[in-house]
Amino acid sequence: MFRMDETDFADKQAAYRALDAQAGALLAGESDPVANAANLAALIFHQLPGLNWAGFYFLKEGELVVGPFQGRPACVRIAMGRGVCGSAAAGRKTIVVDDVDDFPGHIPCDAASRSEIVIPLIRSDGVLLGVLDLDSPHRARFDADDASGLECLAGRYVGSLED
Ligand code: SME
Repeated sequence: MFRMDETDFADKQAAYRALDAQAGALLAGESDPVANAANLAALIFHQLPGLNWAGFYFLKEGELVVGPFQGRPACVRIAMGRGVCGSAAAGRKTIVVDDVDDFPGHIPCDAASRSEIVIPLIRSDGVLLGVLDLDSPHRARFDADDASGLECLAGRYVGSLED
C-alpha cells in the first residue's frame, strides 16, 4: 500500500481541498478546454505524490483520444469499453485499479505503471466528454479519498468549460 509523505500529506482530504482551491484559481475566468486540461494535468502531476502519468482523454467520434497530459508518451486512441479508460468512460463511473495486472484488458502505456484511477468527465447535461486518468508506479496508490478528491477536480474542469 502506497503511503503519502506524512509531513506533506498527513490529511489527504485536506490536501485535496487545498488542491481544489488551487485548481479553482488556475481555471478561473478561462473556458478553453485544452488550456484548462493542460494546466490541470500539470497541477495534479506536480502536486500529488507518487504519479508517473496524469492527463486527459477526450471523446471524439466515438473513441477516446489523448489530450493534455504529463508523463511519458501514451497510446493515442482507446475504444469505448477497452482498457481502464474505455471501461470508466463506457460505465460512466470512476474505476480504481490496485494492480493493473489484475485488470483484464488493461492497456499498458508506461511499463512502470502499477495502479491507476480513471474518472469520467460528464457535463451537467449528461454528455460524456472524456476521462481524467492517473497512473502510479506504486501498487494500490489510489483509494476512496483520491476518488472523491479527483472527482471534485474533474467536476471543476467540466464546470470551467461552461463558464
Ligand atoms: N492504462 C490505460 C491507458 C492509458 S495510459 O495509462 C496513459 C487503460 O488501460 O485504459
